[in-house]
This record gives sequence, structure tokens and C-alpha cells, in this order.
Amino acid sequence: MHVLVTGAAGSIGTVACPGLLDRGHTVSGLDRVPEPEGFTGRWFTADCADPDAVEAVFAELVRGGGLDAVLHLAGRPTESSLPEALESHVLTTAALLDAMVRHGVPRIVYASSNHAVGRTPRRDLLELAARPRPDTFYGVAKVAAEALLSLYVDRYAIDAVATRIGSFLPQPESVRALSTWLSHDDAVRMFDACLTAPDPGFAVLHGISANTRGWWDLEPGRALGYVPEDDAERFAGRVAADPARDETEAAHVGGPHVTEAFVRPALDRAVGA
Ligand SMILES: NC(=O)c1ccc[n+]([C@@H]2O[C@H](COP(=O)([O-])OP(=O)(O)OC[C@H]3O[C@@H](n4cnc5c(N)ncnc54)[C@H](O)[C@@H]3O)[C@@H](O)[C@H]2O)c1
Repeated sequence: MHVLVTGAAGSIGTVACPGLLDRGHTVSGLDRVPEPEGFTGRWFTADCADPDAVEAVFAELVRGGGLDAVLHLAGRPTESSLPEALESHVLTTAALLDAMVRHGVPRIVYASSNHAVGRTPRRDLLELAARPRPDTFYGVAKVAAEALLSLYVDRYAIDAVATRIGSFLPQPESVRALSTWLSHDDAVRMFDACLTAPDPGFAVLHGISANTRGWWDLEPGRALGYVPEDDAERFAGRVAADPARDETEAAHVGGPHVTEAFVRPALDRAVGA
């Protein structure tokens, strides 16, 4: 399968690209910044929020033999103002979806986030049926991007899988991450499963490893063929407890994003600059 990975120079992209190559896929990379050292496929330095730039990339890839799927990782992984968040997550997704429709590319796998439901209080099991409940403008933009994917699945002959990623890290660094960790290897397993699952239509899953302390339902991922193998628990002895912080972070899905530190005006463009 030929996959265009956006945000290919980022922390997840630099793990996903070689991982998908190892699994037999052909990988082309796109990012606002030049290709990282060691990248072996075709590279496009472009802004995903610019529809003309995205169209040029698709036209070139389709001319060069076709494209089967997009793995959309490009985007700012932190809080910002609402306009910045919408551009980074919704407009980029829109430009890619329009190009997919024009060029007949049938599947997109999206890096959504737990922050789409971050204000959901802690419960025994976080099910996907939880209503969209963002904790930040970042989370609002992820909810909107998921809604856009759903709309395009209903309107056009494409499949879209949104992965609500927890904490993508080499290893967990906080007590919260002992339940929300997504290991590098499991991330590759997850993306591969989402790219190749037969006829998912519009689907959502929790992007975490098989953590002993995990409380987000793993069944939606398993239904798509994502079977996580790693468990954050093996790092538990190396994670320093911080009782006040840990208790606050354990209260909601979104952990620290639910604290006062993230409460700010929606249109304050200086935020996150
Ligand atoms: N890292 C995590 O734990 C985590 C958790 C949940 C969701 N996510 C989501 O996963 C995605 C990737 O996160 P990451 O941690 O790799 O972030 P990152 O900042 O390390 O990488 C993002 C990459 O996207 C590129 N980029 C940003 N905007 C772009 C644009 N408009 N056009 C082209 N390239 C652009 C950046 O240059 C960067 O290389 C993001 O959408 C983020 O919201 C990450």
C-alpha cells in the first residue's frame, strides 16, 4: 500500500514512516519542514493547510503511480488559540479530504486525541459512546476534524479512522502516562491495522498500549485489528510519583489539560506563539 504520511518529520511521523516501511508499505512523506536524515521515500515540503500545495502533492503522486491512503499526523500537538487550532487540525484535514475525493484516494487515518473527550470524568471504562467533550481549543479542533471525516465518509466512497492517541512517548514519564501510554511499536501496529482493516467506514479507537492501568476501552481497536502488545507497567518503578499532580491528572481523560492553566480566551492569538 502506498501511504502519504503528513507530519512525517515529527515525533510520531519519524516512528511511523520507518515502521510502515518495515511492514511492506511504500511511504511518501510530507511536512512543512525538510525531510529528516535517513528518510528514504519521496518527500514533499508543503503546508497541509494550503489546498493548492496539497493538490500539487496529490497530482504528482497520482501521476507517479497512485496513492492508496493518507496517514494524517501534521498538526500542532499542543494548545493554541482557537483559530490556530482550527487551521492546524481542521483546515489541514479538509485540504487532504478534498484532494482525496478529487484523486480517488480511498482511506485516511487520522491522529486525533484523547483531548477530544478530555473533560470526561474518570470512570471504570471509557467507552467510545462518551459524548464529544473537549478539554481545550486543541480538543475542540480534534472533535471538529473527526466530524469532518465522518461527513466525508457519508458523502463519498472513502474510509476514515480516527485514532484518539493518549501519550506517545518512548516510555511513560508520569503516573498518568502509566495508563495513557502508546508505545512506539504499538503506534506502528495501530496505524498499520487502521490502514488495512477491511471496510471500516468511519471508525474511532483509543490509541494506547495494553497498559495494566489503562481504563480506555481497547475493543474498538481490536475490532479493527489493532492488538497492542506493550504495557507501561514495566516502567512503573522508574516513574516518580507526585501525589497532588497525579490526583488532579487522574480525575479526567485529558489529565493536565483540564487544569486552570489551560483556561484562556478563544481568540487570544498570542497564546502558544
Ligand atoms: N504526541 C502525542 O502524544 C499525541 C497525542 C495525541 C494526538 N497527537 C497528534 O498526533 C499528531 C502528531 O503529533 P506529534 O507529537 O508527532 O507532533 P510533532 O509536533 O512532533 O509533529 C508534527 C509535525 O507536523 C508538521 N506540521 C504541523 N503543521 C503542519 C502543516 N500545516 N503542514 C505540514 N506539516 C505540518 C510539523 O512540522 C511537525 O513535523 C498531531 O496531530 C497531534 O495532535 C499526538
